[in-house]
Amino acid sequence: MAKNFFYTQFPFVVLLIISHKVFALPTLPLYTNSRWIVDEDGKRVKLACVNWAGHLPPLLAEGLSKQPLDTISKKIVSLGFNCVRLTWPTFMVTNDTLSSMTVHDSFQSFNLLESIAGLQVNNPSLFNITIVQALQEVVKNLGENNVMVILDNHVSKPMWCCNRYDGNGFFGDRYFNPRIWLDGLNKIATIFNGVNNVIGMSLRNELRGPRRNDSVWYNFMQKGAEVVHDANPNVLVILSGHDFDKNLGMLKNQPVHVSFKEKLVFEVHWYSFATTDGWRNGNPNDVCASQVQFLRDHAFFLLDQGYPLFMSEWGVYLGGNDVADNRYSSCAFALAAELDLDWALWALMGSYYYRENIFARNEGYGVLNWDWSEVRNPSFMERLSAIQYSFRGPGLSDQEQYDVIYHPLTGLCIPKSPDAPPVYPVKLGSCVQSEAWTYTPEKNLQIKDAYYCLQADGEGKPVKFGTDTDCKSPNAKWERISSSKFHFSTMVGNTTLCLDIDSNNTIVTNQCKCLTGSCEPASQWFHIIPSTIRYDS
Ligand SMILES: *[C@@H]1O[C@H](CO)[C@@H](O)[C@H](O)[C@H]1NC(C)=O
Ligand SMILES: *[C@@H]1O[C@H](CO)[C@@H](O)[C@H](O)[C@H]1NC(C)=O
Ligand SMILES: *[C@@H]1O[C@H](CO)[C@@H](O)[C@H](O)[C@H]1NC(C)=O
Repeated sequence: MAKNFFYTQFPFVVLLIISHKVFALPTLPLYTNSRWIVDEDGKRVKLACVNWAGHLPPLLAEGLSKQPLDTISKKIVSLGFNCVRLTWPTFMVTNDTLSSMTVHDSFQSFNLLESIAGLQVNNPSLFNITIVQALQEVVKNLGENNVMVILDNHVSKPMWCCNRYDGNGFFGDRYFNPRIWLDGLNKIATIFNGVNNVIGMSLRNELRGPRRNDSVWYNFMQKGAEVVHDANPNVLVILSGHDFDKNLGMLKNQPVHVSFKEKLVFEVHWYSFATTDGWRNGNPNDVCASQVQFLRDHAFFLLDQGYPLFMSEWGVYLGGNDVADNRYSSCAFALAAELDLDWALWALMGSYYYRENIFARNEGYGVLNWDWSEVRNPSFMERLSAIQYSFRGPGLSDQEQYDVIYHPLTGLCIPKSPDAPPVYPVKLGSCVQSEAWTYTPEKNLQIKDAYYCLQADGEGKPVKFGTDTDCKSPNAKWERISSSKFHFSTMVGNTTLCLDIDSNNTIVTNQCKCLTGSCEPASQWFHIIPSTIRYDS
């Protein structure tokens, strides 16, 4: 077996790139340039965020009873996130009783004795300050660690979110008085005016419920956007859609009108439970194709209209094996990479102080474990790392576009070959230093500007590199098959084979699998990702 050449050759280059990405804030404030979020210099900034909840009744960002604030911030950075979507409830700033309460008193009012003890040990400086001051401290510490923050108005009444009838779903619901909501947005925008790592505010999480109404949506979202911009012109203003933020379809025909430019962003949410049964019982190729089509029709068309679209919640159960989430995740990774989305994973939290009447409740979607000390699922974090980097965007590279061959199940790519001819057998590696491919009209998978093309050698065998004439033979032509188009099939003799990986991540060809039925095709899922960035040394 070929030793992994790329890691032994390039560790320093990769480390340098990672440290550059992780340890500096971009030049702020941020703007939009068509579908991209860019810094002051016009260079793309990819938001690779994690959600951190602070909207539940104790009114403090979760986890601070488990670990010191600075430890959590540094953990976020070490996991490759450059930003946090920090959630807050309206009443935290519009109800004087709540806003003037100390963290201790807030915890005491729910009898959170264990959390109080933990907070005293881990974050004594937060203990006697008000919950609004504590929010400021959290944001400040994230800033000191160069983490950007998006403040997300998650609910009005502090509570777990969301269901259709919880009174927080739509303008006019029991707890969702638009006037109070605007007042809350104004207060938070004002408090954080001048705090430069606060780069965005999302106006309201997951609108929903029976009051749904387009003209009401336009009226108040436009008003909310103006209120935030007036109070804090530096922040990106982020608007969510109907139906738990799955549907922004109304914007196809009617744009939003705001008085300001280059600050408007939309957000969308996507989980497996949009169609849990579909993932569980259907063919993952079919379900992925139909989900992606739904998202294109209801949200991703905005990219073509020239707006950034932030996938501000997505995520999977990280506590074990969930069939629906496993299937969904390969589809979600493929789409996030292809569109090179800005995103925020749900969620950072390993546990909550007090959620839905349960003390110290575990969060199975949490990146961190229950006591916030360790990563819950290291292999998921490895997968995630590939999409924490930009594949393309303004100001990143003047090189022409090429294709990256991405494998969403592992989060790996075909890495850059240091020599010509390339090493054999071909093994998946980091996407940061990926090979520049081109998928030609002749259906070759060819190294760009070189003779070499991928060629199948038979069932169960590693693929090899052919040149010139080899590339014209049937075993070097790759059809994108199945409804997902993620299978790459070719002919060796009379046998149809598909690209696949073996247990060492070597690229092989095998019988095409799971083209129909409820089964697991993802080892054979490869996706072509347009890219322009190569970190040449
Ligand atoms: C403010 O919050 C307190 C504590 O939750 C609650 O009892 C009170 O009714 C709220 N006041 C208003 C005006 O909503
Ligand atoms: C909080 O304030 C109380 C009374 O003002 C004081 O007794 C206590 O030591 C303070 N606790 C911390 C952790 O600062
Ligand atoms: C939406 O709200 C507007 C303004 O309140 C109202 O005139 C209209 O009838 C509503 N539309 C629907 C479909 O409920």
